[in-house]
Amino acid sequence: MKMRGVEVAQFGGPEVLDFRDDLEAPVVGDREVLVRNHFAGVNFKDLILCRGEYHGGNPDLPFVPGIEAAGVITEVGTEVTDFRVGQRVVYMTGSMASQHNRCYAEYNVVESSACIQEIPDDVSYEVACALVIQGLTMHYLISDCFTPEPGDAVLVHGGGGGLGLLMISRLKALGATVLTTASQPAKQEAARAQGADYVIDYTACDFSDAVREAFPGGVRCVFDGIGKPTFLKGLACLQKKGTMVLYGNAGGAHPDPIAPTLLTQLGSLTLKRPALYDYVENQAEFQRRQGELFELYRQGDINLDNLTIAPLEEVAALHEAMLGRRVVGKSLLKI
Ligand SMILES: NC(=O)c1ccc[n+]([C@@H]2O[C@H](COP(=O)([O-])OP(=O)(O)OC[C@H]3O[C@@H](n4cnc5c(N)ncnc54)[C@H](OP(=O)(O)O)[C@@H]3O)[C@@H](O)[C@H]2O)c1
Repeated sequence: MKMRGVEVAQFGGPEVLDFRDDLEAPVVGDREVLVRNHFAGVNFKDLILCRGEYHGGNPDLPFVPGIEAAGVITEVGTEVTDFRVGQRVVYMTGSMASQHNRCYAEYNVVESSACIQEIPDDVSYEVACALVIQGLTMHYLISDCFTPEPGDAVLVHGGGGGLGLLMISRLKALGATVLTTASQPAKQEAARAQGADYVIDYTACDFSDAVREAFPGGVRCVFDGIGKPTFLKGLACLQKKGTMVLYGNAGGAHPDPIAPTLLTQLGSLTLKRPALYDYVENQAEFQRRQGELFELYRQGDINLDNLTIAPLEEVAALHEAMLGRRVVGKSLLKI
């Protein structure tokens, strides 16, 4: 069977994303389900994988990008007992290897024991898809890496991005005072609407000066998904015994190595460098966290007002806009 999808045959920028209507649809294995994808999420990691610059290794070429999707099961393998045809599901795929991407396409096969879960009746495909990678990341960063006490001041970089907006809404729900950085008026506005207390236009000032002006003693935690451009200045924003959670390098390079004694000199700081796949290691953990995210969404503690939805055919333009930092919030491809 032929299907619509996006193929990358050589590493590069958005121009290597080739939309096609003649890709071979996958054939379901004994322990797999075949999912007709309705939405695929777009993540910053997709851009890095397409460039062939992922720190964990590169996919084999050619590959279909995309690491999360929501859709309906159209076929189940002979040994599958826990999923059925017609079920609405959301799932994420494993690692950087080519056989684990494949979400930017009409159909995908997923191991029935992998990170896949039924979507509750009161949750749409769009919302379910928007809560996978970025939702799970927000969930483990705040529940496992640093959980604020009410009133704690916390700095979140990239507050107008997909993960940034989710982080702000959750931190506010927990009673934190949230400072955030964002480069453009639309992102700054979205961060404010999400409840951020201090929105720093870091293109107009030094963000660390702005943080120290608001909190001379420093903040308790910095969540940094930008990397080298912000890391060292972020450490200097922390109060004694503060925590730096470094979780990405959207700004390009990874930070240079530091001496452990720097953490001591700056006030007995804690540095964490976590990755999602260590916090979602199996289906049970995926379903537990995803279930809690659905509940937070129902309670209004997660706001997804800023979804950007583009047709699959326009994938290259969407990647281009993300690279150009023009996208506010979470991006989805409608398939
Ligand atoms: N470790 C993990 O488990 C994990 C899991 C998921 C995601 N991540 C990481 O989390 C970060 C955010 O991911 P996301 O999916 O939320 O991405 P996103 O929606 O594209 O947001 C990223 C933000 O980074 C900022 N940025 C700074 N320098 C940039 C540059 N040179 N190019 C593009 N953007 C730049 C942009 O905000 P401004 O324009 O306002 O600066 C942008 O809104 C990424 O580093 C990603 O790799 C880590």
